[in-house]
Amino acid sequence: MTPAQLLELEPSELWGDVWHRLGRAARDPRHSFRPPVVATLCPERGVRARTVVLRESDPEAGTLTLHTDRRAGKLAGLDLEPRVSGCFYDPRHRVQVRAETRATVHAGDAEARTAWESQGAAAHRLYAVAPAPGSALPGGWQAPARDEGDAGFENFAAVRCAVEELECLQLAREGHRRLHYRRDRDGSWRGTPVVP
Ligand SMILES: Cc1cc2nc3c(=O)[nH]c(=O)nc-3n(C[C@H](O)[C@H](O)[C@H](O)COP(=O)(O)O)c2cc1C
Repeated sequence: MTPAQLLELEPSELWGDVWHRLGRAARDPRHSFRPPVVATLCPERGVRARTVVLRESDPEAGTLTLHTDRRAGKLAGLDLEPRVSGCFYDPRHRVQVRAETRATVHAGDAEARTAWESQGAAAHRLYAVAPAPGSALPGGWQAPARDEGDAGFENFAAVRCAVEELECLQLAREGHRRLHYRRDRDGSWRGTPVVP
């Protein structure tokens, strides 16, 4: 769909289109929604953003899932404040999606195990690193030590982010359009147009 065609969609159709993109991105490593930027509270700096990979997207539950190392700085922030703000941009279709979410961290539980099993050996090795991500290397750059197999599972976390608000900004020559989605009392999502 072109940006002009996307402008024609009703809010409920655009909602479906957004979740279709999020679903594709979770399966397709080349999709432009695959690496969103997510911002969390940072105990030292107030706020911090970083790129992550979107691993799962569930339109029925309204959740987006990321994987990370439970020793990572972002998890220290999530302990204090579970809200995660995610920002996706598709340059081809000129669509930005911002998702305001509340995260639940799964580490060492059945959900973490399922997420872990969905990943291959190369991903597993990333979590079996010592010392922890972000640790200073006083001796200069050296590749950190890595274990093989299941050793990294104890450091692995699946972060499930429940969407509480979502905003879609469609850029188009004909005029930009911005829609803000919130849940109604009956649980359905309602999109309200706002000034771009
Ligand atoms: C394209 C790309 C994808 C990334 N994917 C992830 C990811 O899925 N999970 C993750 O924890 N970090 C990922 N990172 C690294 C983070 O951006 C960040 O450097 C790291 O998680 C440390 O962040 P923190 O100290 O805020 O926890 C990715 C970086 C890039 C450039």
